[in-house]
Amino acid sequence: MIGVFDSGLGGLTVVKEIKRLMPPIKILYFGDTARLPYGEKSEEIIKKYTLAACNFLKKRKAKVIILACHSASSVALNYVRSKISLPIIDVIQAGVKAALEKTKTKRIGVIGTRATIRSGTYERVFKNYDKEVEIIARATPLLVPLVEEGWINHYITKEVLKIYLQPFKEEKIDTLLLGCTHYPLLKKLIKEIFQNKVTIVDSSEALAKSIINFSSYKKIKKRKEELIIYLTDIPPEFEKIARNFLGLLPDKIMRVSLRE
Ligand code: DGL
Repeated sequence: MIGVFDSGLGGLTVVKEIKRLMPPIKILYFGDTARLPYGEKSEEIIKKYTLAACNFLKKRKAKVIILACHSASSVALNYVRSKISLPIIDVIQAGVKAALEKTKTKRIGVIGTRATIRSGTYERVFKNYDKEVEIIARATPLLVPLVEEGWINHYITKEVLKIYLQPFKEEKIDTLLLGCTHYPLLKKLIKEIFQNKVTIVDSSEALAKSIINFSSYKKIKKRKEELIIYLTDIPPEFEKIARNFLGLLPDKIMRVSLRE
């Protein structure tokens, strides 16, 4: 049984990829919908909330926890690893490795929430693998609300993206890493803006692929596919948003409250 954590419903992009790439498995998904966005919160609060969420999944017998949220992975990974005795897989490593495999010029762009970009984690992880790589990282905070609104192909979203992506064009990147759960839904628009001249790395896909190789995964009993979603709030727009991220409606949704 694997546990997937995200600040909200965006992490369902990772679940979608896991379902697509992996054999049937039981997934417990925890989305802290009552308290998102994490991308605008302080490090202290992101650490506290992420730990509470991981404890929740551990209590429900998750054997491995996937931090699908980039803001939580960037800020709280080491902290939760020091507190929880379960394997915890973050979303950063897989995306970084995938981007390094793709780049030819070693000029890589990263977009994410303010918390993710401010943490500097992406730069650090990239440099750990390759000192020569040039990272251009920028926060693109308007994209999460636009995606949540379902404005995936909207001209306003395209205009916002054009403004956000212009500096990356000037910096002549050849690869752009999507450092946020929500951005895979904007892949098509982003490719159009770069006229297919930049390789787009979808970390949700990279993360799902890396889980298949993860050794503890082999110990997880494969059984009937099931997806149970725990949310700290079930927003009125839940169905629309979940369908956007996951492509279907989950089997079971439960509202839970979380003790920190
Ligand atoms: N899940 C967050 C991330 O990937 C985006 C939404 C939020 O800010 O909570 O960074």
